[in-house]
Amino acid sequence: MAILHIENLHVSVAGKEILKGVTLDVEEGKTTALVGPNGHGKSTLLFALMGHPNYTVTEGSVTLDGQDVLSLSVDQRSKLGLFLAMQYPSEIPGVNSADFLKAAMNVRREKPMSLFQFYSKMQSAYKEMGIPFEMSTRNLNEGFSGGEKKRNEILQLKLLEPRIALLDEIDSGLDVDALQVVSGAIRDEQKKGRGFLVVSHYARLYDLISPDNVAVMVNGRIAVTGGPDLVQKIDTQGYEWIKTELGIPVEKEDVVVSIGTCATKEALKK
Ligand SMILES: Nc1ncnc2c1ncn2[C@@H]1O[C@H](COP(=O)(O)OP(=O)(O)O)[C@@H](O)[C@H]1O
Ligand SMILES: [Mg+2]
Repeated sequence: MAILHIENLHVSVAGKEILKGVTLDVEEGKTTALVGPNGHGKSTLLFALMGHPNYTVTEGSVTLDGQDVLSLSVDQRSKLGLFLAMQYPSEIPGVNSADFLKAAMNVRREKPMSLFQFYSKMQSAYKEMGIPFEMSTRNLNEGFSGGEKKRNEILQLKLLEPRIALLDEIDSGLDVDALQVVSGAIRDEQKKGRGFLVVSHYARLYDLISPDNVAVMVNGRIAVTGGPDLVQKIDTQGYEWIKTELGIPVEKEDVVVSIGTCATKEALKK
C-alpha cells in the first residue's frame, strides 16, 4: 500500500508563512481525519499537496509511494493518484460536465474508453450520488447548489479512482440526506482501498466514515496525532486542552472580513 509521506513541509501564501513544518503520513487504505481551529492551515496543506500555484513550498518534501510529488504539475499529481475535493468547487462556464469527466478519465488510460463504457460508468456514478443524469449536460458546477457541487466532487472521485483523496470540508453545506449519500459513497471508496485525508469541523461526518487516525493542526503544524477518540475529545472540549495539556498556545485567526460573512453584513448595516 502506498504512503503519502509529508516531511517538514513549509508553505507560504502571498509572502506569509502558513505551514511551518508539517510532518504527516497518509496511508492508502486508511482514513486520516485532519482537524484544527479555523485559519491554522488545513486547506493550505491540501492545496499545497495538489499543487495550487498560489501556495509556495519553501522547505520540506512530499512523496507518494516514494515518488517526489512537489516537482510534478497538478495533472501529473492527479495521474499519480492524488485527488482534491475542494471546499468551494469552482464554476467552469463553457466546460460541459460529461466532456470534462470523459477527458479526465481518458487521459489516465492508454486507450480511450468506448462511448458505451463511458456512459455506463457515468450513469451508475450519477445514480449512486443521487444526481439527476441530465446534470451531466450542464457546465461544470455552473449554477449548481452548494450540495450539488459537493456531490459532484465525490462523483469525480468515484470516476477518477485516486489512491489518496483529500477532502476539504466535504460536509459543509450538505443537508441530512446529502450527508448520508456523500458519507455512504466515501465508505464504498474506503472499502475499495483508497486512502483519505479528510478535513471537517464535525464529529458527525467522522462518526459516519470512521477514520483510523486523527491529526490536529495548530499554528501550521501537526500538534498531536491519535486515534478516533481525539475527535470525540475535540467535539466535547474544543481546542483549549492543546494549550493546557500540551503547552502549545493556539493563535487566534485574524478576523478577515469578506463578502458574505456576517461581519460584512453587520458592517453594511452601520
Ligand atoms: N490566498 C491567500 N492569501 C492570503 N492569505 C491566505 C490565502 N489563503 C490562505 N491564507 C491565510 O492562511 C491561513 C490559513 O488558512 P487556511 O489554510 O484556509 O486555514 P484552515 O483551512 O485551517 O481554516 C489563514 O490565516 C488565511 O487567511
Ligand atoms: Mg479550510
